[in-house]
Amino acid sequence: MNPSKTALEIVHHLPPHYLERTLREDVRAGLGKPAKTLPPKWFYDQRGSELFEQITQLPEYFPTRAERRILEDHAREMAGTSPAETLIELGSGSSRKTPLLLDALMDAGDLRSYVAVDVSDSALTGANSELSRNYSDLTLQAVAADFESQLQLLPKDGRRMVAFLGGTIGNLEPDARAQFLIQVRELLGQAGGSLLLGTGLVQPPEILIPAYDDPSGVTADFNRNVLRVLNAELGADFDVEAFEHVAVWNEAEEWIEMRLRATRAMYVQLPGAGLEIHFDQSEDLRTEVSAKFRPERIEAELAAAQLTIAGQWTDPDKRYAMTLAEPF
Ligand code: AVJ
Repeated sequence: MNPSKTALEIVHHLPPHYLERTLREDVRAGLGKPAKTLPPKWFYDQRGSELFEQITQLPEYFPTRAERRILEDHAREMAGTSPAETLIELGSGSSRKTPLLLDALMDAGDLRSYVAVDVSDSALTGANSELSRNYSDLTLQAVAADFESQLQLLPKDGRRMVAFLGGTIGNLEPDARAQFLIQVRELLGQAGGSLLLGTGLVQPPEILIPAYDDPSGVTADFNRNVLRVLNAELGADFDVEAFEHVAVWNEAEEWIEMRLRATRAMYVQLPGAGLEIHFDQSEDLRTEVSAKFRPERIEAELAAAQLTIAGQWTDPDKRYAMTLAEPF
């Protein structure tokens, strides 16, 4: 029997109760202060992951399509520039675009294994079936881990390409982004590894806002899902429908902010976090930042982590960039 024809094995690097504990900490830190915020990683329970998949199909949401187009046009150049024995994908989600990279890396040389890293078990499980069906010559691994804090647990053998796609790096604020890139640089070591980074590009608000506030309301539903997650995981009593979805372009920071706006004053109990919080009418809870980049900024942030650009590609509309970076 060919072992790689079996279901992908999920290796757990999250300590028991890690998710419950960090959710509690994030909620206390983010909701227990005057300007309320929550980190975007809590959108992605099963329903949230499904809603995100629907977002990727929306005509207004450009990142997924643009990234796919770039991979279709240039994956071979990427693989030729940085052939790798192992592809490690951070925040892999559904791994839908991964075959484009796997095929190119296999043709370019000696790709032997693929490691999918995500905090979401349901995403890892969903991704496995597709890949294990078509890539019986590769060793496939799924690692349940938090890419912000657990990169040191990932395999360090062989020449590695670390892929961080979808523009997810934009969900980290500048300090966290700098820390993250330093960790990635350490993971790559000296053995000729590379980082393949997907980033949305700065564009006019008329393009950006509808991508995060679609007329069909899928993004609004995705945004409100974080409240359902808190209700389910912390026994909270958010009236989910009492919050309105808001997307704004923050010109100074060059990021999209998603917020949930209270349509009335209310108290919310969160017993699992030991909190009772109050919302004024029209008070905002910021649930996500999604930074967009200018090429100079990509280069500068990579350089600060001792990474230098080996190649960069954009889609024909210049909405999205993929940057291949190597340690220097
Ligand atoms: C794929 C996680 C980067 O920020 O564009 C989609 C998430 N948020 N619509 C993004 C998202 C609202 C998405 N990421």
